[in-house]
Amino acid sequence: MIRTVDLIERKRDGGALRDEEIYALIDAYTRGDVPDYQMSALLMTIYLKGFSGAELAAWTDAMLRSGEVLDLSSIPGVKVDKHSTGGVGDKISLPLAPLVAACGVPVPMVSGRGLGHTGGTLDKLESIPGFSTQQPVERFIELVATIGLGLIGQTAEIAPADKKLYALRDVTGTVPSIPLITSSIMSKKLAEGIDGLVLDVKVGSGAFMKTEADARALAEAMVGVGQRMGRRVVALLTNMDQPLGRAVGNALEVRESIDILKGCGPEDTTALTLGLAYTMLDMAAKPTTDVDKALSDGRGLAKFAEIIEAQGGDPRVIDDPNRLPTARYKRDFLAPRDGYISAIDAQGVGLAALVLGAGRATKEEDIDPAVGLMLHKRLGDKVKAGEPILTLEHNDRGVDDALHRLTAAYTLSDEAPPAAKPLFIDRIGG
Ligand code: URA
Repeated sequence: MIRTVDLIERKRDGGALRDEEIYALIDAYTRGDVPDYQMSALLMTIYLKGFSGAELAAWTDAMLRSGEVLDLSSIPGVKVDKHSTGGVGDKISLPLAPLVAACGVPVPMVSGRGLGHTGGTLDKLESIPGFSTQQPVERFIELVATIGLGLIGQTAEIAPADKKLYALRDVTGTVPSIPLITSSIMSKKLAEGIDGLVLDVKVGSGAFMKTEADARALAEAMVGVGQRMGRRVVALLTNMDQPLGRAVGNALEVRESIDILKGCGPEDTTALTLGLAYTMLDMAAKPTTDVDKALSDGRGLAKFAEIIEAQGGDPRVIDDPNRLPTARYKRDFLAPRDGYISAIDAQGVGLAALVLGAGRATKEEDIDPAVGLMLHKRLGDKVKAGEPILTLEHNDRGVDDALHRLTAAYTLSDEAPPAAKPLFIDRIGG
């Protein structure tokens, strides 16, 4: 019989929790047998004292086992997924999953909704008319087996402990804790029944991790826990000092994803899609050159059309993106003076899109799939006074607020700033 207060006191005083205590505690908490006030206190001790590698692995495994663990062993091949820690304009999952599946690597992808200033893959997919991300687990497995990929939202059965713990962390100041973020992400991902995971850990003004040191620590923790749990895990640290690509907003990002698969996407989003695809193929022991072939011969695009249709969406959006929701109005955000774009607060840009309706301020809010921002300028670009930096595509909601945030988010200087940081910063694990 474990007394939760003993665990709180031990952790408070710098001691460690034993595996069996962690499993019993997470199980009891998921069932409602440990009150939130005790779990809150324990979360705060974890926030302050951290976890050893062994504690983190046990905590993650206990969360994973709090619900259903998908069994994909009937599907041949190395099943690989990708997870991004969240950025602005980060639509990469949309072109990446079909591209990798087109190369013969099964991609069972379970994604989330937008969180704060960052967009969510599910919201983007649902801007495709008819597309359903709520598929029963059996159908999801069938999609991965037959088409090579499935794109769904987290079901109530996957890692229910995370759902409860995340809600509690949100109101107890314990979200930004590396062990708690690690266990939250890895428990959900590993419950998908994957063999390998590629993590895109974002660093910079639009990321949750603003410094390279924090992003590196998170990447190392996630890779470490994955390896302890017998999975192949590689993390790429990538730059998020400005939004990715040209589009920020759900349907706009679907359009850009189609462009990437047609070979005419922006340079950075295309490079990131390819870099992550190479890493996933490498993990599945497939030749990475297949990725370039699947992009240039249109197999990635055809796979995207196939999964859209299989999940109830209208595949005609591929040839005719005007079938996607479109905002009624456009308004340019203009450069206030001549100069160079020397800094972009990407989080501010994400929040500008959010107030237009592209994201949610609270979990209950509906999003407007059509609205968002189309960026014309990047870090380091020279602009003339009155020249459009970006265009707001809107439905007459939140425009003044968005313009206000954009004014604060863009810094102009007289001198050309140093060259922007490279997109790929480092690779950890593997
Ligand atoms: N995303 C998650 O899924 N969990 C966290 O704790 C933070 C980001």
